[in-house]
Amino acid sequence: MILRAGILLWLMLAPAFAGKAPTRSPAEVMDVLMWNREPVGGPFELTDHTGKPRTNSDFRGKLMLVYFGFTYCPDVCPTDLQAIGLALDKLGTAADSVQPLFITVDPERDTPQHLAEYVPMFHPRLIGLTGSAEAIRKAADAYKVYYAKVDPPKGDGGYYTVDHTAFIYLMDREGNYLGFFPPGTSADRMVEIIRPRLGETAR
Ligand code: NI
Repeated sequence: MILRAGILLWLMLAPAFAGKAPTRSPAEVMDVLMWNREPVGGPFELTDHTGKPRTNSDFRGKLMLVYFGFTYCPDVCPTDLQAIGLALDKLGTAADSVQPLFITVDPERDTPQHLAEYVPMFHPRLIGLTGSAEAIRKAADAYKVYYAKVDPPKGDGGYYTVDHTAFIYLMDREGNYLGFFPPGTSADRMVEIIRPRLGETAR
């Protein structure tokens, strides 16, 4: 009877918590990434900043630069997004075969409308992606991204922050993982790594 009540409670609570709690700790996620323990990347089904549904297969044939963050992030996200934008500018027209993606880890506040005001500040071709809490958690898990909402201190006007790992993932034209740039990577360093791959075509 107690067990049944427990299951019932779980069934009632599970939908409310779906996608909200991190699946793994930051240390576990780092370990997986640093030592290539598991595949990185994979399918996602999200909505872009114009309201259009987008999946990973929309970007086949292009290199993808994938970054997870949130628009209210005070410093790390804007700095990295600026570096991505600058790298694309430095690559010039060759960068047309590179698709930069910004996937929010704060879908509650980062609606398509809100992303539409944010992403063009960094690059005209940067695509912002959002979705349900579950869809975002699934995409983040696939990319081995850790994120967790941090509850605001009382009296802070309800403003909350989101802890998150901030790697910039480089994926090949078939969506396979090539590697990541750590937070704070310069635009020049990204150009150095990306440029030799621009001449390659999809097999
Ligand atoms: Ni951030």
